[in-house]
Amino acid sequence: MTHIRQIIVVKSFITIIFTFLSFSASVSGQTLPLIPAPAEQEILPGSFSITPATTIRLQGAGAEKTAALLNSFLESNYGFKLKYGSGKNSIRLEIDAKVSPESYALIINRDGILLKGDAAGLFYGLQTLQQLFPVGAGNDIHIPCTKIHDQPRFAHRGMMLDVGRYFFPMDYLKEFIDRMAHYKLNVFHWHLTEDGGWRIEIKKYPDLTRKAAWRNSTQYNYAGLQDRIPHGGFYTQEQVKELVRYAAERHVTIIPEIEMPGHSLAVLSAYPGLSCTGGPFAVPIYWRLQQEIFCAGNDSVFTFLEDVLSEIIPLFPSKYIHIGGDEAPKKRWEACTKCQDRIRAEGLKDEHELQSYFIHRIEKFVNSKGKQIIGWDEILEGGLAPNATVMSWRGEAGGIEAANMGHGVIMAPDVYLYFDYAQSLDKDNEPAGIGRHLPLEKVYGYEPYTPKLTPEQCTYIKGVQANLWTAFIQSRNVAEYMLFPRTLALSEIAWSPASKKDYKDFLERLPARLAALDAAGVTFRIPEPDGWDKVSIENGYATIQLRPLVEGAKIYYTTDGSDPATTGKLYDGTLRLPLTFKGLDVRCVVTLPSGRNSNVYKLTPVE
Ligand code: ACM
Ligand code: ZN
Repeated sequence: MTHIRQIIVVKSFITIIFTFLSFSASVSGQTLPLIPAPAEQEILPGSFSITPATTIRLQGAGAEKTAALLNSFLESNYGFKLKYGSGKNSIRLEIDAKVSPESYALIINRDGILLKGDAAGLFYGLQTLQQLFPVGAGNDIHIPCTKIHDQPRFAHRGMMLDVGRYFFPMDYLKEFIDRMAHYKLNVFHWHLTEDGGWRIEIKKYPDLTRKAAWRNSTQYNYAGLQDRIPHGGFYTQEQVKELVRYAAERHVTIIPEIEMPGHSLAVLSAYPGLSCTGGPFAVPIYWRLQQEIFCAGNDSVFTFLEDVLSEIIPLFPSKYIHIGGDEAPKKRWEACTKCQDRIRAEGLKDEHELQSYFIHRIEKFVNSKGKQIIGWDEILEGGLAPNATVMSWRGEAGGIEAANMGHGVIMAPDVYLYFDYAQSLDKDNEPAGIGRHLPLEKVYGYEPYTPKLTPEQCTYIKGVQANLWTAFIQSRNVAEYMLFPRTLALSEIAWSPASKKDYKDFLERLPARLAALDAAGVTFRIPEPDGWDKVSIENGYATIQLRPLVEGAKIYYTTDGSDPATTGKLYDGTLRLPLTFKGLDVRCVVTLPSGRNSNVYKLTPVE
């Protein structure tokens, strides 16, 4: 008994020390749990308590929008709203239109909070403030005192979602935009058309949504399994307007993408006369590089595309329209008399120049409507259209070439920013990835200013973007698994000054953010605990030190090869284990506060 009591006393003492340490860390430590890291921040002693007696003070037109967002955040998480008032114990929200775009100052002291910026800046300052709230209802709300001055590094901070290969309903798109905006991303690139489906109502061409938006079945991984479930859907123009408004309230611009000349098999299945061969075609059920393509020698193709763009352009206030341009195989054009006639009539050298003719012609039309085009880096081939912005996806080469030519660039290199790549090499436990291995740390390490460009040329890089292609991602849970936590790394690449980037520090800030995502029910990939790959082996013993990367999570482990999710022991400190004749076989799972378990992670010794 005495012995057990002693252990309890020692444990309580340790708990007190740890409580003290974590309390002091949140008050005077180096890091507040903010992602993306702000440009400048100073942590001050003390905290400010928000209670129902706290009031909101407004200054400047538009500040009331931030107040409404703050109140809806408070109401849904803590069950109360704040009234307008004056004096101390207040949150002041002030619009200052003269500051640099999207910037804000957030000053929290013991008497109150001041948040000041332009309209977007106030929105971003509010996101920062929300990240300083304790996660979970029923908590006393103590916000640590701090002084933050913040502004984005890049103007274009994008995420692309492919709704062509998998149709996501409106409510998911709203959640997607909410999360983007919370992490200070501001461009939703809406990939609306694909071989696998056309997703936007065009009144002049009803078969786009009657036929091209539907397929009979889907093959959703390399194994060749088909689900035999009809799949499809589309957004009406009214829904598009609703989403554009919804995004704008969150300072997110939507850039629509209408793919051409390739990735158009869904269209061609509804309107086969727009192809080189005349069809017939069906909307494909599996992912592969399709050969079918809009005929570049047929003027009715341009009439069709101009009609479509004429309905698209008024729906989107964005300055840019994305016209695709990627992966356009030239086989059909080589064999098509109309295409060959066009090459001759226009004095073009080959099919690459024919693609360039195609994009130039569309660019001219889009420009005539007061908009600019963005295209994937293949639009460089055969000659870049004069005002085009290049989205570099096959690595950075296209972006470098375009910046050299004085064109705007958005860096979205596949090796760093394709979130359909797998996050781990453990194929048995991961959802199917489409190609390479892209773990969180590699994403985080991406630096868009390449040394292959001069600092002056780097100014053509307008921003960065991650892309989620959905050939193998056929549910919202898997989409979220692929998006998170990698989107948090993207957010820091896009927003934070390069000098503030530090992966170790990011891992200190990540647990609070992942706890918030867990509380919101997001099915992010639960990272391996910190230390899982650094087990030191000495004199026949393994020393294991683990830290979950989600606040409030627990780690369970086994040493006999069995499943830690069912038979694991709770890990509660450093472990020192004698090695068996089999060596090391320690497996663990991370269990979140919500009860969701991670994959089983096998610990690896350092060599
Ligand atoms: C692309 O990944 N085909 C742009
Ligand atoms: Zn043709």
